[in-house]
Amino acid sequence: MSQPTSKNITWHGAIVTPEEREATVGQKGAVVWLTGLSASGKSTIARRAEQMLLERGHVCYVLDGDNIRFGLNKDLGFSPADRTENIRRIGEVAKLFADACVITLTAFISPYRADRDAVRAIMPAGSFFEAYVHASLEVCEERDPKGLYKKARAGQIPEFTGISAPYEEPLSAEMLIKTGEGSVDECAMQILDQLAAAGVLKR
Ligand code: ADX
Repeated sequence: MSQPTSKNITWHGAIVTPEEREATVGQKGAVVWLTGLSASGKSTIARRAEQMLLERGHVCYVLDGDNIRFGLNKDLGFSPADRTENIRRIGEVAKLFADACVITLTAFISPYRADRDAVRAIMPAGSFFEAYVHASLEVCEERDPKGLYKKARAGQIPEFTGISAPYEEPLSAEMLIKTGEGSVDECAMQILDQLAAAGVLKR
């Protein structure tokens, strides 16, 4: 892990323990890291899972790729270095959310395995769940809800994931969500089931 640029800084820990915080909030924090091609269904599944979790009384929040690029990451584009920085920052933000006992669902293409593994590495053991939201490139291109594949094929979007930029599939994700096969509800429920099985959801 790289060292901070700042010198003369000291880590200041909380007085409350993670267990005390969990007992007060009534849940454990966790990060569900959705990764997959554009139009694979990451945002749709994350939003539905968020709704289902909230209906069941859990505190959760979605960090979404397009949205974050309007604010926190408005200075970043889609070069390999910018995508790596995008994921690094979101990883740190997601870690803070999880530390605050929020179930955090992230929806970013996050095409590079090393970037996803770097986020996993900073998370406490057992609190990071990689979810590969899978639909074939053909299906994503067929869906093309934002018309981006069409533009990319026409050469109007450089470095477009799946067309002119790589997507590195997860090798050992905790979840494989095939959006071409199940309904949105079934896919979202897969996340809730996994979180329940892992002991994140206590009710
Ligand atoms: S990531 O690769 O850095 O993880 P992120 O999830 O933040 O990407 O943003 C992806 C979204 O940006 C896509 O869903 C799409 O709407 C938009 N987008 C614009 N240009 C590109 C591009 N060149 N490649 C992929 N997505 C792009």
